[in-house]
Amino acid sequence: MPTNLISDADKKNLANSAAGIDSDKGDARTKAVTAQLLYRLMQVIDECDVSMDEFWAAVAFIGKAAKNEELGLLVPGTALEHFLDLRLDEAERLAGLNGGTMRTIEGPLYVPDAPLSKGEARMDDGTDPGEVFIIEGQVSDEDGKPIAGAIVDIWHANSKGGYSFIDGEQAPYNLRRRIETDEQGRYRAQTIVPNGYGCPPESATRQLMTALGRHAERPAHVHYFISAPGHRQLTTQFNFTGDKYLYTDFAFGTREELVVTLDRVVDADAIRNAGLNRPFARTTFDVVLTKERANVPQTVVSRAHVTAG
Ligand code: DHB
Ligand code: FE
Repeated sequence: MPTNLISDADKKNLANSAAGIDSDKGDARTKAVTAQLLYRLMQVIDECDVSMDEFWAAVAFIGKAAKNEELGLLVPGTALEHFLDLRLDEAERLAGLNGGTMRTIEGPLYVPDAPLSKGEARMDDGTDPGEVFIIEGQVSDEDGKPIAGAIVDIWHANSKGGYSFIDGEQAPYNLRRRIETDEQGRYRAQTIVPNGYGCPPESATRQLMTALGRHAERPAHVHYFISAPGHRQLTTQFNFTGDKYLYTDFAFGTREELVVTLDRVVDADAIRNAGLNRPFARTTFDVVLTKERANVPQTVVSRAHVTAG
């Protein structure tokens, strides 16, 4: 079929009409965004000559993803969650705000209210056969002043790439902890080196990635929310040098500033000093928070989460 069968003006009129633009009832913001979305969708359909079969296949695909509670996977996989980060980065830059640790995507697998402890935490329940991993770091402000009492909320996958509450194989809150920084702004976690995460084999997201000729894998990563009174909350992650998927993360979460190196500790004295009895991996992840400021979009995101209940 030929493309662009319908004039731009007709598309705009139809989209505006469907978005209730000619009515003074309803919500102005919803109307404005709906009108733009429909207009642009009509453009895509017309320019790409989307057939009726293709259109209804797309509707069914989104329906399947929603039914599987996979929309939170599709958003990072289609780079939209990273795009929202890029917009926030730029808004901060324009407001003259800089010097903080780089943000990256939250992803769909956070669970609120993880166990809270002071200074340090053991994150794994001792059943994971993976490599012991010590994460140490310090939270400070833009001026280099340590922030005591910051909450470092960490979550990550196990050595098979699975998350507690999601894979159905782990104890509740395994590999999920909140640590309050000590007087020097420091925190320490003992955990297990995570493996990368791959979208489930039958998932709508993996189906789309395959159709796009992409893989559906993430490099290994450790997620963070860091918050402290008077400071902008930070959502971030770190990845590891040398990871097979480091620069092809299907969720677009990798940022060069957030790649850390794993040190392998094999020295018997160092192992004993760490209170351990076998070789382990360690890394440092320091965090700089920027101070709370007016007229910059906030960083605390209101979104649905998996809940522990
Ligand atoms: C997805 C999974 C993650 O663990 C993550 O951090 C981000 C995205 C996903 O399945 O889309
Ligand atoms: Fe993740």
